[in-house]
Amino acid sequence: MERLQKVIASYGYISRRKAEELIRKQKVMVNGKIITELGTKVSPSDVISIDGVIINKDVKHEYYILNKPRSVISSVTDEAGRITVVDLIDTEARIYPIGRLDYDTTGLIILTNDGDFANAMMHPSMNIEKTYIAKLDKVFTKEDILAIKKGITIDKRKVEVKKFKIKKRDLEKNTDIVEITIVEGRNHIIKKLFKELGINVLKLSRIAYGFLDIKNLKSGEYRPLTIKEIKKLYALAKK
Ligand code: URA
Repeated sequence: MERLQKVIASYGYISRRKAEELIRKQKVMVNGKIITELGTKVSPSDVISIDGVIINKDVKHEYYILNKPRSVISSVTDEAGRITVVDLIDTEARIYPIGRLDYDTTGLIILTNDGDFANAMMHPSMNIEKTYIAKLDKVFTKEDILAIKKGITIDKRKVEVKKFKIKKRDLEKNTDIVEITIVEGRNHIIKKLFKELGINVLKLSRIAYGFLDIKNLKSGEYRPLTIKEIKKLYALAKK
């Protein structure tokens, strides 16, 4: 939250002093209400107008990549009061996650307040590869591998598996850790995919989204996407 006159000045319209003068003259409205208090604080999502003209129409777009920890929900708010991915990011912007990772899934998730960008990323024709590491409660058989490669149908749609490899096998515990790359983004899709083979996912982490990875982000850490990365993601969406 910032002082109204500071926010007005930051938009480059008028100086802070001029803004204070206009506030005193009752020319400034926030969300349709006339403001007279000079110290009034506003957030970037508040609609500010001067003499009836909205000045903050072009909200600054923000884009973040987050390494989501376990037990964090992929939404903006949570009725049960659980921590959300948005809570982990220090911004006043009204950001939201692009797609979802389950509550118990960790890893790469993108957040933004840019609706066009989010729509482009979530469009069904979007071909971005997503790579996951999954710990399974069973070791894979040759038949399982064949079935994965052939393509498993979930809710009448085949899941195209781009890459699949067994990373680590623990014969004592009867578990496999596998890496799997798919393009689609249906909810719970990885868990459903393995469920079809009678396998439960014990742990799941998304480690890559197209060319983006989380190698340099510890659990709970995030960083803004660079302009180059945003442009590259848009280019992928248009392919
Ligand atoms: N697939 C799942 O099953 N869960 C996730 O969180 C992401 C993909």
